[in-house]
Amino acid sequence: MLKRACPLCVIVLASLAVQAFSAQPTEEEVRARVNALLARMTLEEKIGQLTQIGGMAFIPGAPKPEDSIRKGGAGSILWLSDPAAINRLQRIAVEETRLKIPLIFGLDVIHGFRTLFPMPLALAASWDPGLIERVQSVAAKEARAAGISWTFAPMLDIARDPRWGRLIEGPGEDPFLGAAFARAQVRGFQGEDLSAPDRLMACAKHFAGYGAAEGGRDYDSTFISDSQLWNVYLPTFRAAAEAGVGTFMSAYQDLNDVPATGNSYLLQEVLRRAWKFPGFVVSDANSVKDLVTHGFARDASDAAFRAFTAGVNMDMASGTYLANLGALVKSGRIDVSLIDAAVRPILAAKYRLGLFEHPYADEALARKISAAPEHRQLARLAAARSAVLLRNEGGLLPMARDAAKSIAVIGPLADSKRDMLTMWSGFDVDPSSTVTVFEGIRNKLGAGARVEYAQGVQIRKRFSSMFEAILGGKRPEPWTEEQAATEFTKAVDLAKRSDLIVLALGEAALMSGELASQSSLELPGRQRELLDAVVASGKPVILVLVNGRPLDITWAAARVPAILEAWHPGNEGGNAIADLLFGDANPGGKLPISWPRDAGQIPVYYAHNLTQQPETGRGFTSRYWDQPSSPLYPFGYGLSFTTFSITNLRVSQERVSLGSAVEISVDVTNTGSRAGDEVVQVYIHQKYGRASRPVRELKAFERVSLARGEKKTVRFSLGKNELSYWSAQAKGWVQDAAGFDLWVGSDSGAALHSGFEIAQ
Ligand code: NOJ
Repeated sequence: MLKRACPLCVIVLASLAVQAFSAQPTEEEVRARVNALLARMTLEEKIGQLTQIGGMAFIPGAPKPEDSIRKGGAGSILWLSDPAAINRLQRIAVEETRLKIPLIFGLDVIHGFRTLFPMPLALAASWDPGLIERVQSVAAKEARAAGISWTFAPMLDIARDPRWGRLIEGPGEDPFLGAAFARAQVRGFQGEDLSAPDRLMACAKHFAGYGAAEGGRDYDSTFISDSQLWNVYLPTFRAAAEAGVGTFMSAYQDLNDVPATGNSYLLQEVLRRAWKFPGFVVSDANSVKDLVTHGFARDASDAAFRAFTAGVNMDMASGTYLANLGALVKSGRIDVSLIDAAVRPILAAKYRLGLFEHPYADEALARKISAAPEHRQLARLAAARSAVLLRNEGGLLPMARDAAKSIAVIGPLADSKRDMLTMWSGFDVDPSSTVTVFEGIRNKLGAGARVEYAQGVQIRKRFSSMFEAILGGKRPEPWTEEQAATEFTKAVDLAKRSDLIVLALGEAALMSGELASQSSLELPGRQRELLDAVVASGKPVILVLVNGRPLDITWAAARVPAILEAWHPGNEGGNAIADLLFGDANPGGKLPISWPRDAGQIPVYYAHNLTQQPETGRGFTSRYWDQPSSPLYPFGYGLSFTTFSITNLRVSQERVSLGSAVEISVDVTNTGSRAGDEVVQVYIHQKYGRASRPVRELKAFERVSLARGEKKTVRFSLGKNELSYWSAQAKGWVQDAAGFDLWVGSDSGAALHSGFEIAQ
């Protein structure tokens, strides 16, 4: 047949075949398909595409998703994770609506889907972008198989107040580390091709400034200067935009009196004009409607108008666009061309995701790949690489397997599966396969070992939020006073009759995350009392922290010989902790946030300005006079079971011309007795210029693995990007001709010093 076909037909057929199998449609193809579809759509169908509705009927009386979809009133569905339920709704969109436009199913796939990895702040503590990328690629694979094609992650809010519950979801306090964390997650979720069956579209959230909530209270207002906004809060988002993130989510809070969802400066000037972001913006849940609650919009119609014209394409969950945009177009307040412009990137995303060709989840595949053994292995590795060793007096860790005849594993976090996870561990969270600290130690030592457990105390959030009901899982009944006394005594007795104690203290999972800010950093409940009593037993104590935020452990930091920060480490947390305690893994994580001594020190972050009276100055220092100014542990800090030396700091030139790069190298040597990782960190300080710049700023880092005795040379390059900043005087990015201090070391207190000058 083909032999006789005309050459042109062969070419056309061949190109059709390539198109059918080609992974990514080209930009022109997407544009053409979007325009052709748009031309056939009614105004109502267009507004439907700008609407995301809940897949579950949480709100009594809310319309059922099926009905809204049938009427073309939904472009996307929120909060469904069961592939069968997803397919059922998708079938309605694809088979029962006029234009058969598939739905995008979006979910908070934050630190895993079926396999749960360490919480995001813990991943940041790994200082290992390659690991973070792998973790999120597994999360993408599991979620996409279930029919989810859009994740509301990465969360990129810089936060310098650990009272804020959502600290756990982001990168911590530093914009440079945060930008690396952003890029790695976007790459992990999205890969090269969104239509691949193992990738998800990512969403950079919450744009912007949400992490600066006053007093650390969730949703509270933020007041951020331009200089702080550009230099501290926006770089993570810019990094995500540059990495090609598909979508952005507007934040809940007021930014300098303008709610982020109605903030055209953020959404138009910064995101679209300055950064040329081509994707679409979704509001946070209900935040369009809540422009009225903020006292910003007059009524729901005004809220729809303000959010839409500010640049929010899709209304998450509030129904305000669906109810009001039609009338706003008909009255002439909004031109239909603006509606078209808002719909275009949503349809384009659906084409890029391949949803028109493959709208359904493969339910069998979803079952097969979820929590595959290799995913669990990665979860164990990630938990071990995220942990931070805070203290190890006398080399108590790692322990030999036969170091103690009997081990007591004590504490409310020692054997609680749900608390190894976070609030973002899925809407149908099943913690049963999660390995606790107690189980991990037992797995490691085998059946013959004497390992006993006592809970000691209970911890509970004082005021519960709606998330306890939806995501909390089944919580045990509170103890009576009598039970509490008995359990406490049991734990102390166990401590007394054991050779060694692993004490797991911290916070319940739902004490962090959304609606989970705390006024205090003290160990919740009677944990401090338990700690005192266990330490008083005189036995060696290893404190394992399972928590979302730095806690006030000043007392323990002076008395407990070994402290390991394990965070909420995910499904394999217990095994990873046992790997670390017994030396099958060597801690190499570093703090992504300064660790305050107590809540009164907040905010305490390393990149503060010098002030007129720096602490080393003439005595009029800006400090508290009742405790040291330094945090308990500095940003970037973390110990290892081995030791390292960082020496021989070389700078390519003492004077470099404006715009050129400074090349730096150091030698890092493993001087201890076992293999381990060091994170080599580079900090600079610009000594003068058009602005006072922070005392130190992280500008490069690398996590290096070294065998015993091994030495490596690590090289860094500081170019224009690293040496520029946003100037409040110039109202833009500038690079000053100035002198710079340079430090390289293993935390933000690094002492190895040099300098260079940037000349005109
Ligand atoms: C509200 C949260 O602020 C946001 O982070 C999340 O993605 C949405 N709800 C959807 O769950």
